[in-house]
Amino acid sequence: KPRIAVFASGSGSNFEAIAQAAADGELEAEVVLLVTDKPLAKVMERAERFRIPSVAFNPKAYKDKADYERTVLGRLREEGVDWVALAGYMRLIGPTLLDAYPNRIINIHPSLLPAFPGKDAIGQAMDAGVEVTGVTVHYVDEGMDTGPAILQREVPVVPGDREKTEAAIHAVEHDLYREALRKVLAESAVTE
Ligand code: GAR
Repeated sequence: KPRIAVFASGSGSNFEAIAQAAADGELEAEVVLLVTDKPLAKVMERAERFRIPSVAFNPKAYKDKADYERTVLGRLREEGVDWVALAGYMRLIGPTLLDAYPNRIINIHPSLLPAFPGKDAIGQAMDAGVEVTGVTVHYVDEGMDTGPAILQREVPVVPGDREKTEAAIHAVEHDLYREALRKVLAESAVTE
């Protein structure tokens, strides 16, 4: 089975959705590691509940991004990681990790990219007054929320209600991430 590491900085609801799908056999993969840059993030508790090993690295403790990523990469190699899934990991991926995992790092973002990249995509969409926003899962490159889309799904904005809009987006995210992972894993199994 392909071995996935999830990178997350926050609550980790997407981490949990992926871990649950793998545990239920809905995703033919194993989540072998959680990597975080925020040791106090709630996602750490979720990893513990799933008995998935986790590791927290403080990027500020390294001399630069390359140095930080070399350390992360060392850990990924120890765990035999094949794929990296970013799930609310609020940091750009640099060449060290991109070169080590070409077309093997994917990300989820709460908008219909290329609309509303970066932070608070849901707030950006509401402020812009759009009626429909959505979710994108895409391959990661050096840009912020750029890279070829794997799957996208629309989600209607609930006008003036951020909480409801956010809940709807999160629900779609949890399904879409599982589907996108199934898709990329199936495609790579064919070409290998
Ligand atoms: C998700 O909505 C994800 O799409 C977003 O962070 C949230 C993390 O939620 N990512 C980005 O905005 C990336 N630019 P979670 O911690 O509950 O999975």
